[in-house]
Amino acid sequence: MRRPIIAGNWKMNLMPGQAVDLVEGLWADISGYDAVEVVVCPPCIDLPAVSECMRSGDIRIGLGAQSMHWEESGAFTGEVSPTMLLGLGVTHVIIGHSERRQLFGETDQGVNRKVKSALAHGLVPIMCVGETLKQREAGETEGTVTGQVNCGLFELGPQEISTVVLAYEPIWAIGTGKAATAQDAQAVIGVIRSVLGEQFGEQAAGSVRIQYGGSVKPDNISEIMAMPDIDGALVGGASLKADVFTRLVRFS
Ligand code: 13P
Repeated sequence: MRRPIIAGNWKMNLMPGQAVDLVEGLWADISGYDAVEVVVCPPCIDLPAVSECMRSGDIRIGLGAQSMHWEESGAFTGEVSPTMLLGLGVTHVIIGHSERRQLFGETDQGVNRKVKSALAHGLVPIMCVGETLKQREAGETEGTVTGQVNCGLFELGPQEISTVVLAYEPIWAIGTGKAATAQDAQAVIGVIRSVLGEQFGEQAAGSVRIQYGGSVKPDNISEIMAMPDIDGALVGGASLKADVFTRLVRFS
């Protein structure tokens, strides 16, 4: 059985104090509820404060970064390294979010290096894939997403694959209020799982958790989570309020 994983991507929002308040508010509502693995991904600058509040408050929520470099140190202005994240108690890292790809020039090759580095350092990569509206309208969704999956996971073994979390986030659904229908999301995620099966074998493919992301809200989470191949959600806007995120986590 794949344990669902719901992650909040806070993007470039919340100062450290606000991030701590949100984590504490969330934990007050979900502690003891372990049907779902919960991860929050604050901005890097918030990680020390959030990490410390989790440690001192015995808050058992995964702590994710929103990006990282693949190297451990060096002349990479503005970047953070996997070892730096580990030192802060970070457990997960989002890699290849469409905003990183579209606005900051991240490539499939870079995503692959980052996924490998995250795994080598014991961090769980949440690798994002997804098509633009133009690609969807041109009938290129499957080809685009399949290419991103194959490149991003290039040269990994079946053992490593089971640790990776994938997030299918159609770009046209992000922050627009227009989520993919549960059936459309399932159709693409089903294709992703069969691609994984061809590459890594059925057993490994069956163990990989694949999230849907893009305008996930309390009123659509249940139907999304009811789909056979969807194992969680990567949530932006609706993860910024403790009560709303709690309703997502406790969807069932
Ligand atoms: P929204 O939930 O705000 O659409 O954002 C989705 C997303 O990009 C999560 O990574």
